[in-house]
Amino acid sequence: VHGANWSNFTKSLIMDKLEVFGARKLKGQIKISGSKNASLPILAATILSKKKIHLSNLPKVKDVETMIKLLESVGSKIKISKKKNSICINNNKKIKTFAPYSLVKTMRAGILVLGPMLARFGKAKVSLPGGCSIGTRPIDIHLKALKKLGTKYKIIDGYVHAFVKKRLKGAKIKFAKISVGATENLIIAASMADGISILSNCAIEPEIKDLVNFINKMGGKIKWIGRRTLKIHGVSDFVETEYKITQDRIEAGTYLIMAALTQSTLKINGIDPKIIKTEIDVLKKIGAKITLDKNKITISGNKIIKNINLKTAPYPGFPTDLQAQLMVLLCKAKKHSVITEEIFENRFMHVAELNRMGAKIKIKGNKAIIEGNTDFKGAELMATDLRASVSLILAALSAKGKSLINRTYHLDRGYEKIDIKLRKV
Ligand code: UD1
Repeated sequence: VHGANWSNFTKSLIMDKLEVFGARKLKGQIKISGSKNASLPILAATILSKKKIHLSNLPKVKDVETMIKLLESVGSKIKISKKKNSICINNNKKIKTFAPYSLVKTMRAGILVLGPMLARFGKAKVSLPGGCSIGTRPIDIHLKALKKLGTKYKIIDGYVHAFVKKRLKGAKIKFAKISVGATENLIIAASMADGISILSNCAIEPEIKDLVNFINKMGGKIKWIGRRTLKIHGVSDFVETEYKITQDRIEAGTYLIMAALTQSTLKINGIDPKIIKTEIDVLKKIGAKITLDKNKITISGNKIIKNINLKTAPYPGFPTDLQAQLMVLLCKAKKHSVITEEIFENRFMHVAELNRMGAKIKIKGNKAIIEGNTDFKGAELMATDLRASVSLILAALSAKGKSLINRTYHLDRGYEKIDIKLRKV
């Protein structure tokens, strides 16, 4: 619908509080939405092209709305079509190369417009993302790598002021640490730089592969030449493109854990089991019965939940974005488990709330020691970040009685229609 805006869709879905009546079995099917973490870099990458870009399967979540707002604020022309979660983006005119604090502070992926603005327009002023509840979220790796492509920058009053003399120049870059965002920013920037770039020690999350596929479909020249190494020939122009965003593996993982926790049988549709092999293996170890089809996973939770010790890690390791959800499941194990959080320094915000519901979890540095044998009790709760909020829903579903979860706007950032999907099952 021309003139419609994404927030019209999300507005009707925004929740204020969520009431959960627990201790029930779930039954039926859940359809997985498009991936939030794939949508955000792909939306940012549309800045590269003068040609129309049609994207479908975007999830109707707040972070996607914020990225669309950011694009509109710089001058992108965006038409939204209601039916297929799709949009058409036109960046044929010069845009403002400015990303304000008001938009980047709520969604740190806003920093991903830095690469494409520099690549196409040679300059950008982008707000620093700042910290958030799960950690400091620095962007030093992004900046160091962009410098290698010829970017000069200064940080003034909370903004990165960056420019390039003529065009970005291809370079060899080895990331000191695996970073999803830095890999994405550099893939986007290097695809329009002069000459060849070799990026090594890249993040290889499925969302990164989706970004590479998208840019190649637009006419980019990006090739995987090693497990974590990309060779990118910069191009100066792109073609009109249609692209369907990949599925949300974190949403799928969340519902799989939910089935294991509530000892229910659920069919999770619209997810390729290959991209969540690690998670499936973990759930099998814990005792769940799982059968796999091409684009469908059927899971039945077992009465006995086995304890495990696990560390979060970059893909293909166990994702930090499912750490809080898994912790709830391990609260029900017969013996104690240990989860080590290796990605973010402060990602145990959910623990205090889970303990209020009856869990026995102790934190020692970046380790959570989970007692097991928990009978969750319903309570009034406060959500603190996106994945912490969903872990509270999980605990509430397992609890006897009613729970009331406040500050659910965190959920709206990343889970499409979670209340509606859950009511259906
Ligand atoms: C992305 C995901 C997020 C996920 C995370 C890790 C999106 C929109 N978000 O976040 O859901 O939890 O990957 O899988 O896709 N770091 C630095 N310097 C930098 C960049 C990162 O020190 O310049 C550190 C971070 O503080 C963190 C680690 O590197 O400790 C990994 O962060 P990164 O992979 O960059 O996460 P995001 O891209 O922010």
